[in-house]
Amino acid sequence: MDQPARPPIPPGVDLEDEIDRLRRERNAVILAHYYQDEEIQDLADFLGDSLQLAQAARDTEADVIVFCGVHFMAETAKVLNPTRTVVIPDLEAGCSLAAGCPADRFQAWKARHPGAVTVSYVNCSAAVKAESDLICTSSNAERIVAAIPEDRTILFAPDRNLGRYLIRKTGRSMELWPGSCIVHETFSLKKLLALKERHPDAEVIAHPECEEPVLEVADFIGSTSALLARTKASPAETFIVATEPGILARMRAESPQKTFVPAPPEGTCACNECPYMKLTTLEKLYLSLRDLSPVVDVPEPLRSAALRPIERMLAITEGRAATFDDAVALVG
Ligand code: 13P
Ligand code: SF4
Repeated sequence: MDQPARPPIPPGVDLEDEIDRLRRERNAVILAHYYQDEEIQDLADFLGDSLQLAQAARDTEADVIVFCGVHFMAETAKVLNPTRTVVIPDLEAGCSLAAGCPADRFQAWKARHPGAVTVSYVNCSAAVKAESDLICTSSNAERIVAAIPEDRTILFAPDRNLGRYLIRKTGRSMELWPGSCIVHETFSLKKLLALKERHPDAEVIAHPECEEPVLEVADFIGSTSALLARTKASPAETFIVATEPGILARMRAESPQKTFVPAPPEGTCACNECPYMKLTTLEKLYLSLRDLSPVVDVPEPLRSAALRPIERMLAITEGRAATFDDAVALVG
């Protein structure tokens, strides 16, 4: 995706002051995911996991949504709230899960399983959402799968690790798309076990995108917001955290007396950091507000098609529908 050419930032500009001024001038809301750098999280009007950010985008009355996260999140915001201008500081902020599930291959996979209910993890393109029956996020996935009638075959894309975890939790059999997250697949079990020996009282907490062997040794598994809540509610004083380390800033801010140790990746790389999330910088955030660009757009009729499974998800999650069939009756 090409980034637009733009005038440079004038020397001496106080970026944080300018971001504040521009967000008021533009009636903009800054939404940020927990994996963003701390300086971006500190500036956000709303911080959350994928589900919370989608709900915040749907409910905002601001004219502009600045999405400090990755592209599929900004796209979901646009699908839910099409009259707002949605901008993302860097258009290259993708996601390995979304990239590994092109819509044409997803469609062909679906065609090989007629009659199945297709559940797609929100980490996918609007084109894949448009071809799905239901969307889920890591915080509502169990509830979404449990809402599907027992006699229906389920296809789950694109994260096979979350899929395997859901099979274990719900007892449902599902066909899994063979995708994974380049960040969560890098944690080293060997190093994690060595860390556990050094911190015998530590609780291991993990995101369900981690590989199965890591999930097997985890004491608690959940979405980013569930992991954050766990660190506050648990009596443990030390946590080994198997997810993107951007969330450690929030964990430390909300429980300053506790110790947080990031789970180490294989080798010596920093590959437990999401390279896409880390594309957001203060400079790019400032420019996206100043220029209202790059814009994230989802043209019709793709938007309406992608909206349907998202609305079904929200209806089940928010208690307006108990089952998949109820959600279809309510939303279409
Ligand atoms: P959450 O919905 O748990 O915030 O996860 C988003 C994500 O991309 C994890 O890698
Ligand atoms: Fe995608 Fe993984 Fe980055 Fe989450 S951490 S946005 S799943 S690449």
